[in-house]
Amino acid sequence: MLAIEPVSLALGARVTGIDLSQDLSAQQWDTIRQAFHQHSVLVFPDQKITIEDQKRFCRQFGDLLVHQHLLPMTVDGHPECMRLHNDENNPPGLNTWHTDNSGWPNPPLGTVLYAKTTPSVGGDTLFSNMYLAYEALSPPMQEMLGQLTATHDAKKAFGADYPELGELLKKKSIEVDDRFGNGKAVQHPLVRTHPVTKKKSLYVSAPYITRIDGLSTTEGQAVLDFLYRHIETNEFIYRHQWHANDLLMWDNRCLQHYAVADYFPHERLMYRMNILEEEDGKWTTS
Ligand code: SIN
Repeated sequence: MLAIEPVSLALGARVTGIDLSQDLSAQQWDTIRQAFHQHSVLVFPDQKITIEDQKRFCRQFGDLLVHQHLLPMTVDGHPECMRLHNDENNPPGLNTWHTDNSGWPNPPLGTVLYAKTTPSVGGDTLFSNMYLAYEALSPPMQEMLGQLTATHDAKKAFGADYPELGELLKKKSIEVDDRFGNGKAVQHPLVRTHPVTKKKSLYVSAPYITRIDGLSTTEGQAVLDFLYRHIETNEFIYRHQWHANDLLMWDNRCLQHYAVADYFPHERLMYRMNILEEEDGKWTTS
């Protein structure tokens, strides 16, 4: 029997009683879709699935993103599937709270991560609920932020601020060029309305943001410093402790995530896919 139980009060639910290597009924997909919009993270434990199964799962929600600039980091024959692999020869880099690909004009709606190999301890992923982060702000702060946009630059996120990532890209002969963020920085509102739930959430992404538009550098930095601290509030957070064969899906439109790099020299291997936002599902500010 398909069952959905919350994993924390902040966000997330565990989905049991289904096998994602098999076809699901339309009713089961509807239940999963509704749970996704309600909980923002879905955890499917103990799924013995192939890459094709993972793709089929993702396609229930939209088309898959192919990271043309990161092809050497994908699984052979599956350009949609990023291979995130760390071990003693390839230490995990320190992470930063972020939402995926915010330096692109249309960031993906969600991410689906499948755990192939997990360390016995460590390597958790944290998720912070940006609806709660927005709702916890005072009305004047909500109003001010609601009028602002920030500039997001993909080249910043893959640049000098992240030396371990830089090393990895160098090893794979990947150049940070105009394929990153389609060659130019983009502006996104700091407060966005989710196209399905219609709820407002904060939209910041530290690795990508270079400034808040219209504010002076010092004003913008002060606001960003406050927001980056604010999103780390424990009450907004669910921490997922991975087991091999967990499949997680999360909503990039209303969450930030952070992969904890505390498991060196142990191995962690994950397969990651990003689901594209539908054209008519683009976010609005109102
Ligand atoms: C990511 O940041 O997209 C990957 C998260 C993880 O490896 O836990």
